[in-house]
Amino acid sequence: MGCAISGLGLAPKKATEAVSEEEEEEEEVHLSSEHITMIKESWKVIQEDIAKVGIIVFVRLFETHPECKDVFFLFRDVEDLERLRTSKEIRAHGLRVMSFIEKSVARLDQLDRLDSLAVELGRSHYRYCAPPKYYGYVGTEFICAVRPILKDKWTSELEKAWKTMFQYVSQLMRQGYNEAEEETKRSNSVGSSRERPDKRNTAL
Ligand code: HEM
Repeated sequence: MGCAISGLGLAPKKATEAVSEEEEEEEEVHLSSEHITMIKESWKVIQEDIAKVGIIVFVRLFETHPECKDVFFLFRDVEDLERLRTSKEIRAHGLRVMSFIEKSVARLDQLDRLDSLAVELGRSHYRYCAPPKYYGYVGTEFICAVRPILKDKWTSELEKAWKTMFQYVSQLMRQGYNEAEEETKRSNSVGSSRERPDKRNTAL
């Protein structure tokens, strides 16, 4: 069941190598044209199994990081993760996330369009109360889920390419999340009627 990859650089750090959230934010993530080509080629294969990949990613995410399950109103009380594999809701949610990945892959040649999409997604995750510290886990689980699908087409360079893409998207999501958080703080501090939505996630 385990999947040994090194993570997206967002895994918890040992005390000696601790970096602040700001430092993580400033790390430059560069998507090379070689990486973009590799991602696009591999996506053609992954695409055929997106429903399956979406389910695997979220069931594994909840197994490895149960605290993420608590963010989902519909899943937080589900104890038996095996039952989730056949749930319509997890399939639908997985497909929404995969369709975002699909759009991201399609925008890799126009990064400004990808940037705005991912920042907006981060803003919506502020409303869902899903904080940036968890975003890297999704990329890790995605890589574990697609590796067996790509079989011998999987290479360490392709892994690096997908890791970089998820780092890129996660950073922009973090930016959107932080912006939305700041705006809410500002509007609350001036006594505006705009308030942060209820802590409970009501999106599901
Ligand atoms: C790279 C990381 C992630 C991506 C690309 C992603 C993508 C998405 C997308 C496309 C949606 C559909 C709604 C929308 O477009 O706003 C969504 C919804 C949601 N996500 Fe994420 N997500 C990520 C990480 C996470 C994590 C780690 C959590 C929880 C800890 C989370 C919690 C939620 C919740 C609660 C919803 C709302 C429920 C729903 O509409 O299905 N997300 N996410």
